[in-house]
Amino acid sequence: MAFTAARPLIPPQDLKSFQEHLARSKRVLALLGAGLSASSGLPTFRGAGGLWRTHDAMQLATPEAFNRDPGLVWQFYSYRRHMALNAKPNPAHYALAELAKKNPEFITISQNVDGLSPRAGHPANQLKLLHGSLFDVKCSEFFCNYLETNNYTDPIVPALALPTDESDPTTNEAIKVRELDISDENVDLPEVSLRDLPRCPQCQRGLLRPGVVWFGEWLPRDVQRDIDRWTAQPENIDLIMVIGTSAKVYPAAGYVDSARNKGARVAVVNTDKNDAPQGGMYTNDWFFEGDAAVIVPELLKSEIGEIKPEDMRDGERTSV
Ligand code: APR
Repeated sequence: MAFTAARPLIPPQDLKSFQEHLARSKRVLALLGAGLSASSGLPTFRGAGGLWRTHDAMQLATPEAFNRDPGLVWQFYSYRRHMALNAKPNPAHYALAELAKKNPEFITISQNVDGLSPRAGHPANQLKLLHGSLFDVKCSEFFCNYLETNNYTDPIVPALALPTDESDPTTNEAIKVRELDISDENVDLPEVSLRDLPRCPQCQRGLLRPGVVWFGEWLPRDVQRDIDRWTAQPENIDLIMVIGTSAKVYPAAGYVDSARNKGARVAVVNTDKNDAPQGGMYTNDWFFEGDAAVIVPELLKSEIGEIKPEDMRDGERTSV
């Protein structure tokens, strides 16, 4: 029987040229998307039909949907908060956090709202959360500026608790009852009345809403300003790593072009070869096809060493 050598995870030539470039690089940018957290068990947006029950997840992520049916939108976000709290950062989150600690000139723009990068210890001043966080809540009234960060209460109000399967014989008495997956349209969605949704403690009038950026809304101005200042510095940008994002949503996707215009070489990490940045790939770029949780630590190993299980300490949720 003939043995064939296993195909290396990353073509050795590409790994070598990437790591040589990384070693020479000072100003480095990373653009992160949902694919980074896929291995942590959190679904991406455009994967699996992008549906939550029968709803297009992107339609639920709008101010219009919240105005029309705040109960449904809160159920969607409460579910996502619960999933994110029960997920763990993966080796790629830790590797990026390590690189940030090592290189103060490395900044990360994340489109992810799941809190996994902060929990992996990514320094907050080098992590720009472009789409907000599931664990920020704010008042939905236009004139009220109430904002609460790091709210990890799950569920945020009792009415948003996940239904459980009391009839499941494998989950009895004090043992954990089985939570039902309300993202499945075949599971009944509990009725949630308006008066049971979270209210603003400041103005006492508005409903609280998740502190994420919805389609059609402005990005957080301070975050955008920080990124613009960093990109506008006279020095070139050496490298941008585009990790686990379909890079289709602007302005996030536009950061690839801004970095390129300042001389950056582009390294893409994605499971789907077709998900190259909008402007296409150039000859000097790298496309690393595969799971970010495996590829990213391998790519950064030459700078940060190996990420060992004992290094993967999930940060205190209260301190992120
Ligand atoms: N490793 C690397 N890449 C992966 C993995 C993985 N394990 N799994 C999936 N991917 C890739 C997919 O091929 C896809 O290109 O991650 C990308 C995920 O793309 P999207 O679902 O579009 O997520 P994202 O790019 O983060 O979306 C951007 O759009 O819906 C809005 O506001 C939302 O922040 C989100 C933004």
